[in-house]
Amino acid sequence: MAEVIIVDSAEAAGRLVSDHIAEQVQIAPELVLGVATGSTPVPVYRALAQRQARGVDFSRAFAFALDEYVGLPDGHPESYRAVIDRELTQPLGFDPTRVNVPDGRVEGIETTGERYEAALLASGGVDLQLLGIGTTGHIGFNEPGSSFGSFTRVKTLTEQTRADNARFFGSLDEVPIHCVTQGLGTILRARHLMLLAFGEGKAKAIAAAVEGPVTASLPGSAIQLHAHVTVVVDEAAASRLKHSDYYRWAQANKPAWQGL
Ligand code: GLP
Repeated sequence: MAEVIIVDSAEAAGRLVSDHIAEQVQIAPELVLGVATGSTPVPVYRALAQRQARGVDFSRAFAFALDEYVGLPDGHPESYRAVIDRELTQPLGFDPTRVNVPDGRVEGIETTGERYEAALLASGGVDLQLLGIGTTGHIGFNEPGSSFGSFTRVKTLTEQTRADNARFFGSLDEVPIHCVTQGLGTILRARHLMLLAFGEGKAKAIAAAVEGPVTASLPGSAIQLHAHVTVVVDEAAASRLKHSDYYRWAQANKPAWQGL
């Protein structure tokens, strides 16, 4: 079962998760961090940037993004390559040559998945994977129906996800229809999954992912198949969890040696 940690705010989650990542990168400077985009991980990246300013060194760590849009022009500010560069690579002082984002260029798109899988394997695999969740229950861009065995490949975004992400673009029409995303099988290979969610809008998806049936119709439920999962949610995102009293009880009685 996943460990569920209910915190007061997204900032508190940012502090908790960044403490853990900073500790891990100090133990293993070449940590392979799986990074997510969207608004959810931003408090983690902000808190990590503050730690970097206080001397935590990310320059030897590796990063692998979950996904990318297909067909945005090079340098588009909402391409995940640009987002990762802005939110993570620069403020945390990652070496840009160690930061990987799936190649969303149309030319060569047929092999982009294979190339990304090869890079992931060559890195030795992701040590710690940060995840957000979409309102459709997607992780990465694995929309409902994604195979639990899937690897990095091109997917078609749902209309719901395009509408959700239109806020980052000038209009809905500008949101790409296709994406490249790590598969659920790829994500499940990471050694530790950390799923974050904040706000009432995520409550349904979180309850389904953590406590619902394991089903391809709710791709986030794939986390139930992984041996080491930490779910960090605020009160609003936790509001539909049936066993929240138990999660709080378990946290209050957690043996100190366990860590995350
Ligand atoms: C996006 C990303 C996901 C992200 C999710 C939630 O479409 N591809 O990786 O987790 O949607 O986004 P947000 O964190 O902004 O709510």
